[in-house]
Amino acid sequence: MSPLSWKVLVTGGAGFIGSHTVDALLAAGHEVRVLDSFEPPVHRGEPPYLPREVEVLRGSVVDRATLRRALQGVDIVFHFAAYQDYLTDFSRFFLTNSVATALLYELIVEEHLPIQKVIMASSQAVYGEGKHCCARHGVQYPEPRPSEQLASSDWEVRCGACAEPLVPLWTDEAVTRPHNSYALSKRDQEDLALKLGRRYGIPSVALRYSIVQGPRQSFRNAYSGALRSFTVRALTGNPPIVYEDGRQLRDYVSVHDVVRANLLVLHDARADYQVFNVGGDRRVTVYELAQSVLRAASSRLEPRLPGLYRVGDTRHIFSDVSKLRQLGWAPQVSQEAIVREYVAWAAEQPDLHDTFAAAQARMQAAGVLRLAQSA
Ligand SMILES: NC(=O)c1ccc[n+]([C@@H]2O[C@H](COP(=O)([O-])OP(=O)(O)OC[C@H]3O[C@@H](n4cnc5c(N)ncnc54)[C@H](O)[C@@H]3O)[C@@H](O)[C@H]2O)c1
Repeated sequence: MSPLSWKVLVTGGAGFIGSHTVDALLAAGHEVRVLDSFEPPVHRGEPPYLPREVEVLRGSVVDRATLRRALQGVDIVFHFAAYQDYLTDFSRFFLTNSVATALLYELIVEEHLPIQKVIMASSQAVYGEGKHCCARHGVQYPEPRPSEQLASSDWEVRCGACAEPLVPLWTDEAVTRPHNSYALSKRDQEDLALKLGRRYGIPSVALRYSIVQGPRQSFRNAYSGALRSFTVRALTGNPPIVYEDGRQLRDYVSVHDVVRANLLVLHDARADYQVFNVGGDRRVTVYELAQSVLRAASSRLEPRLPGLYRVGDTRHIFSDVSKLRQLGWAPQVSQEAIVREYVAWAAEQPDLHDTFAAAQARMQAAGVLRLAQSA
């Protein structure tokens, strides 16, 4: 697509990734409309960072009349609005994520809307435990670890054939094994976007983000995960609490690199009808992440490992970004720089408080967070 000035609808544009994408779209000369329901607890009203020149529609992507209104006069859609959590309200994931994406395509097709591209936010979560290798039995995509295994502090993923621990590999786009409602709904969104997109000639792209980090990520978003949790603990004088044995491997990607990927696939027709991983520059253990947060916060504390684990958590996952590299994208922000930027931003936030205890109590009450027997 040639870089003209477009009218762009950003669903979930008041959120973390959405708002950074909005800024980049405005800087590139596009006109932006945001559709957002300002969901609590992520938001407490309209966030202060939304630029004045953005047209803001308050409402839900699930509501037909609202989404219909939001799509009027639009050329491009970035679809970020989503329900993300770890709790047991399973149906809500499919309503907000899967059904709203189907509704988006339904409206585009039925109303003959001249949308030139849809870019949707998918997630690394669609891989479940991701790609692994057994020295004897080769590459495999294992099932989640059984609860009994986790209860006895036996953390590693094991081979289905010989039960030896597997070696985690960089996971490419080929095989998905979602194993929770969020991941299942994200894969639904991808399937809907790519398959309906192709059938009806609506260029569509799905981006599977790894764990995205950066300023504006709400402290009250349960999904914002380890970096937020470690940072609020460190900045409030408490040691970060690390689950399992802390050796879980992850890749973290800066929101600035994510925005670059978003704009790249917007402009590059080679991306159409494709799915891409968007990940970080290297893999790190969760314990290392906690240590780098403490360093960035100039804290002399050490991370704590109390033997807690979350049912359904992935042991290791880190994405192979070779496919997107072929279009000229590469992560530019290092892991250390991500942590430094986030901790510096968090330290300036008036609503910084240790949300860890409340989140932990909520997850324990729901049976999601447990203490291993040997802990
Ligand atoms: N942050 C990550 O690490 C990450 C990783 C992988 C994928 N993603 C995906 O990226 C997208 C954006 O995530 P984020 O981290 O910016 O989350 P966020 O919670 O900061 O932003 C989501 C926005 O969507 C809005 N929203 C939620 N439900 C809505 C609805 N029904 N109608 C309209 N608006 C609604 C929220 O108010 C919020 O402003 C999501 O689709 C998410 O699944 C995020």
